[in-house]
Amino acid sequence: MPKEKAANNRTLTVSEEEALQLRKNLVTLDDIQSVYSFKDLLINADLFTVLDHIPNEIADVIIIDPPYNLTKDFNGITFSARSERDYEAYLRTWFHKVCMKLKPTGSVYLCGDWKCTSALQRVMEEELTILNRITWQREKGRGAKSNWKNAMEDVWFGVKDKNNYYFNVDAVKMKRKVIAPYKVDGKPKDWEETTEGNFRITYPSNFWDDISIPFWSMPENTDHPTQKPEKLYAKFVLASSKEGDVVFDPFMGSGTAPVVAKKLGRHYIGVEINEEYSLWAAKRILMADGDSSIQGYFDGVFWERNSLAVQKKEGHTQNTSPSGAVNLRKRAAQRISAFTDNVPSLFS
Ligand SMILES: C[S@@+](CC[C@H](N)C(=O)[O-])C[C@H]1O[C@@H](n2cnc3c(N)ncnc32)[C@H](O)[C@@H]1O
Repeated sequence: MPKEKAANNRTLTVSEEEALQLRKNLVTLDDIQSVYSFKDLLINADLFTVLDHIPNEIADVIIIDPPYNLTKDFNGITFSARSERDYEAYLRTWFHKVCMKLKPTGSVYLCGDWKCTSALQRVMEEELTILNRITWQREKGRGAKSNWKNAMEDVWFGVKDKNNYYFNVDAVKMKRKVIAPYKVDGKPKDWEETTEGNFRITYPSNFWDDISIPFWSMPENTDHPTQKPEKLYAKFVLASSKEGDVVFDPFMGSGTAPVVAKKLGRHYIGVEINEEYSLWAAKRILMADGDSSIQGYFDGVFWERNSLAVQKKEGHTQNTSPSGAVNLRKRAAQRISAFTDNVPSLFS
């Protein structure tokens, strides 16, 4: 049963009653053989058991956020830290097969922390051409008395064919406050003056410092221990796919990749071994029907951290108020039974 929470805590929960309905929206190992359209699927199963059932060369983008080389309890299933060599061997048990799901023009984003990043790089290089390493300064991190606080993550960006892949940098521009407002002939040089401040639209680098990890007051938040922000995944999806393309996430957790794909008009396939996480993903997908906004992405550009007040003044209508989030959850609850009526259409 969901825990009692404070009024302004927007962390998503699924009641037992909702779970009964939402379960029908999940594809399990038992029914995967009767799926005829591999689009918009949340698969609740062990990746190793379902990979062979997913068609090859189906995905335009694959976003991979695997268990890092840390001991972590994923709702009863513990991933244990191991030697670097054993972690690399673990990655090799699935990475090649996952890459087989990528279209020849597709891209892969592979997430890790400082500890597992070298293993990720080595394994990725065996299958793909690495084009970049993005560093995400996630800010929040556990402090340590005898070490530096860990507040960054790496994301390796690789493609199957370095001469033929899709990349739309214009879709991921950023709107940043101008620190030194330089003028020529009294007019702003490459920036705009607004009543809310001075801003410049810039192209992104491979250092991302504009994204916070989800926390309890954000509508996208769940109790998943390593949930990624929608804003982070929106950048991968917008840069490396077009509307109607397919996003695949083999370790979907609380469903961030499928949710972002849906909000941005892409199709999705997500796999998650844990049922509760899969149910959260299913509920988030329903909520995306009523609200396709992504916090920090508004008006076709990515805004800096802590700029919500300015975005609101410029007409941002995202459901960020506590009452907005409650209404969204209520609407999702109402839609849960309606949505499940469509489920048989997934199967032959
Ligand atoms: C780092 S988390 C992903 C979090 C996700 N990006 C999100 O935003 O919520 C890794 C996930 O992989 C799942 N997982 C681990 N082994 C798996 C397997 N063999 N098959 C499917 N899922 C698995 C875990 O349960 C966990 O939720």
